[in-house]
Formats: sequence, C-alpha cells, structure tokens
Amino acid sequence: MSTYKQKNISDINLEDYLQEYEGKQTSAKNLFFTGGRPRESLNGTWHYAVDQYDTCIRQHWFEERYRDAQGNTLPVDFSFDSWPTMELPCCWNTREEKLFLYEGSMIFTRTFSFHREKDEKVFLHFGAVNYVCRVFLNKQYVGMHRGGSTPFCFDVTGLLQEENRIIIQADNTRREEQVPTDNFDWFNYGGVYRDIDLIRVPRNYVRRFKLFLVPDGCFDKIRVEVSMSGKRAQKAFLEIPELDLQAEIPLKDGAGSSVFKVNPVLWSPENPKLYKAYLTCGKDRVMEETGFREIRVKDREILLNGKPAFLRGVCSHEDSVPNGKALTEEEYLDTLHQAKNMGCNFMRLAHYPHSEKMAMLADREGILLWEEIPVYWAIRFARQDTYGDAENQLAELMHRDANRPSVIIWSVGNENADTNPRLRFMKRLADFAHRNDKSRLVSAACLVSFSELAIADRLAKYLDVIGINEYMGWYSPDFGLLPRLFENSHPDKPVIITEFGADALPGLVGDEKEKGTEVYQKYVYERQLQILHTISYVKGLTPWILYDFRCPRRTSSIQNYYNRKGLLSPDKKYRKPAYEEMRKFYLQLQQESR
Ligand code: GCU
Repeated sequence: MSTYKQKNISDINLEDYLQEYEGKQTSAKNLFFTGGRPRESLNGTWHYAVDQYDTCIRQHWFEERYRDAQGNTLPVDFSFDSWPTMELPCCWNTREEKLFLYEGSMIFTRTFSFHREKDEKVFLHFGAVNYVCRVFLNKQYVGMHRGGSTPFCFDVTGLLQEENRIIIQADNTRREEQVPTDNFDWFNYGGVYRDIDLIRVPRNYVRRFKLFLVPDGCFDKIRVEVSMSGKRAQKAFLEIPELDLQAEIPLKDGAGSSVFKVNPVLWSPENPKLYKAYLTCGKDRVMEETGFREIRVKDREILLNGKPAFLRGVCSHEDSVPNGKALTEEEYLDTLHQAKNMGCNFMRLAHYPHSEKMAMLADREGILLWEEIPVYWAIRFARQDTYGDAENQLAELMHRDANRPSVIIWSVGNENADTNPRLRFMKRLADFAHRNDKSRLVSAACLVSFSELAIADRLAKYLDVIGINEYMGWYSPDFGLLPRLFENSHPDKPVIITEFGADALPGLVGDEKEKGTEVYQKYVYERQLQILHTISYVKGLTPWILYDFRCPRRTSSIQNYYNRKGLLSPDKKYRKPAYEEMRKFYLQLQQESR
C-alpha cells in the first residue's frame, strides 16, 4: 500500500513523495550477458515533458487516473501522447535550444506492442541514462537506477502486455553525494542517451561469460568463466571455431571456469585480431567477439604480450558539438582515427565510462584503452552510499566491457586529495577491480605533492600503474619544477602522465608569452615532451586533451564555455600546432623503438 494512499492526502502536502520510489534499485548484479542476442529496440520517437518539480512522481501520472471512483473525469496535468516528441537516444541539451542548460527531471513516454513467447524472460536494457532513472510500465513502478554512464536492466517479464505504455523519468540533477559530485569540469548532459532495448532470454540464461588469456607469460592458455541465472545446468559448451576449440565447461550451482590450451594470434594495436566465441547452455546461446592479449607490469615496465610497451596516448571526453554525450558511431570512429593519426596506440577515456561502441571500435582499430569511473575531485568519501554508487558503476563497467581486449586499465578515479577517507574509499575500489578481473591493470589519475614536490600519493601502493596529472607551464608556471619532481620521486612501478597541457583558442596564434594562444600551447608541449622523454619510469603519456569540449566552468573570452586544452577544435576539424608537436614526438618514439 503506497504512502500516498495511506495518507489519503493530496500530493501537495506529501513531504516524502520520493520515498516509495527509492526502492527497487537495479545494479550490476542484475546485469546479464548480452553478446550475440537479438534486441528489440525502443529507440525512436518518444513524447516528453520537462518535469522540474517531479510532478509525474508526486501525482502518480503513470497510474493514468482520468476518472474518479464514481466515473467523473479528473483534471489531469499531463497529456502523454500530445506532448512534443524527441528521438531517443539523445542528450536533450542538444535537441532543443531551450533545454540546453536544463538540469532536472524529464519525462519520456511511448507505447509499443509486444508479443510474448512461452517460457521466456524479458529484460528492459538501457545503455545509459544520466543520472537517476525511474521506469514505469503499464501503470506499475518497475524500478530505478543511479549512475550516469553505465548500462542497467530490469526484468519486465511479468509486466508486459500485448499493448504497453512505458514512462521514463531521467533526472540529471547534480548532487554532492553522487558520483561525480555536483562539481566537475565537463558539461552535465541529460537524457536517455544510449540504446533502449527489450531482450528476450530463456528461463535459464547466461549471466556472465568472460574469456581471457591467462596472464602467466606463456600466451598459450585461455580462462573461460561462466555463470548462469539458474543452478541446475551441469555444463556449458564453448566453441571458438577459428581456434578449432570445442569444449565443455563443468558447472556447479550454475557457475564454473575452465582453462584451455590454445595457440591464438595475439591481439595488439599492430594486429587487432578478433575471434568469435560461442557459448551454449541449455536453451541459451550467446556469442562474443574478442581478442586474446596479455597486459602485465614487471618492475617499472608495462608488458603487452610480454614485450615492454610505451603507451602513446591522449585523453578524450565523450563530447560532440551536435550530439553532446550521445556520439554517433562515425563520431566515435573519427575520435579514434584522429588519435591514430597522431601516432597513438592508447587513449584515456576520461572521466566516466564512454559508450560500449567506443570500446568495440577500439578492439577493431587497435587502440588500447584506459576506462574510468567518475570518482572525480571532492567525492563524499565518508558516505557509505556514495561508495556503493561508485563500486556499482565500476562493476557495471567491468561487466559490460569484460571481453574488450582494447581495455587494459580500469581507473578508479581522478585528482582526489590524498585524505584518509579517500584512501580507504579508493583502495576498496582498487581491491574490487583486482579481485574481479585478472586481465586488466588498475590505476587512477593522482595529484602530485607540491609540498614534497614528488609523486607521493598513498593510493599508488594499491595500483599497478600510477597515473599523474601535472600542469607545469599552465597551472604551475615554473617548468623548472618538473625535472625536480621526477628526481624527487622513486616509484617502484610504471608511471603514466595522465594529464598535461594548456588552453589555446583555435586560430589564436599569439606568442610564447601569451597563455591561451596556439604558440604558447605548442611551447608547453615542446617543454613538457623534452623533459618527459628523459624520465625512465614514465611509460605512457595521455596529454589533456584530444579536442576542446563544452564546460560551464570556463567562461573567459578564450574559453566561452569550452575547455580549450584540446589539440583539435571542438568539431575535431581543425588541428592546433601542438597536435603536430605530439604527432612528431610519437613518430620519433616509434622510430627509436624499432
Ligand atoms: C584536471 C582535470 C580535468 C580538467 C583539467 C583542466 O586535471 O582532471 O578534468 O579538465 O584538469 O583543468 O583543464
């Protein structure tokens, strides 16, 4: 019985209107394996209304009460199918001028037909909604999700009818207890901005299917981990035709893992070889297209397939002038090609999980990836719920990209002050990532200690690779500090410089003394690269950032609501001179390593 009915008062006096809609929170444990499954898309035309006061929830619009018990018509404050329409998935900010800066709840609704089959389960699956999402189906509350960049799903088997109405609340309000908090250096796009699908599965279905090269330096064994929704099945059947592998995987209580001797062509940026793997168990059959590679750290080296690697990278946000965070496949591909053209074999996808499409394209294009959850700046590290939110986003990302060979690093955060609550919080995340995935390294983008002028972040002890953000020449004017910083530091593991750079308004040439100009940005890159090239334990660079991106914090005449540290203009069509500086440097590195 809902609070609403018990109190029998109108919504305008209901203080805790959200209380009954904080439950049924879906999370990583509800995810299932989606590879190779047919999808019935709900992308397309949806009606929408801006719902600044959460009236949909307060008044229970989803119950569609048009008449009272006596049959009298009721005055309602909504008219679902007469509302304006929007094509989903998208970020509402880039669809309507008046919605550009809107932050709050938006209500989306549509109807759809669905024909149920016998003996099946049906999931409603979202690629991502920023930030809180609540779903109502056929007048019932289905559940909610927190987290702006990771997939989630709901079991809607028992709620579907031949004709259905679905209502979604998407709420991109920034809140200090969220992950990220209410303060970050990128644009807060809102919306249902990745695919919406109905996915049918048998009663007993594959929840998890992970396969990877056993990281023992032999490159001749793969480990396959399987878990089913039910506990009855005794075995699953694996086929990798191109490896001539057909094998059974024994299951106990619905889960099992096996190791198989194989001789795969190893996946690498130079040869991004992918294999199709099929898993059958009972009535379920799924497919994964993956590559086999090994990433390990040995002393201060990063070993890719046993060979020391230098990660020639660059950072990127997920930001598009016409599409916000909802890039098209062509735009993702353009981002990868711009990086490859600069000589990159690596990208840091900052500061939140980018689309699954980006990782799948990187698998094919041969670009190694750093993927990151938005534990960014002043997260409320002492709040247990905030930790739960962060860990769940990490778990959802790790589940989604379990078999992406391009993903070599899970990053548990960026630029957080080295306090005790933060250390406890991020060590827990690093331990979680290590415990649940033996096929990746764990890192974070750490701050340097200016009091010690050294790499001194206590979190580094729990990471495989130390990420370091330093802005000598920009926020810290004295370049002379940079060599001393590295002389004072004695890391026992590889370091990646995860950020350095400078703003430059595209086309504003200026001179070496003028910050915000192209000449000054090029000068910073020249000086940085001269020094970084000499540091033996620096095994990767991801300068900040491939292209300019929208940011409400940046209002100077140079910036005009963009962060201008890009090597390219916001539309990626114009290359600033510093782009060429990076390209020359990476070309030189490749020649040196031959
Ligand atoms: C920080 C932060 C970035 C930010 C950048 C900048 O290091 O990690 O998110 O955009 O610096 O100040 O431009």
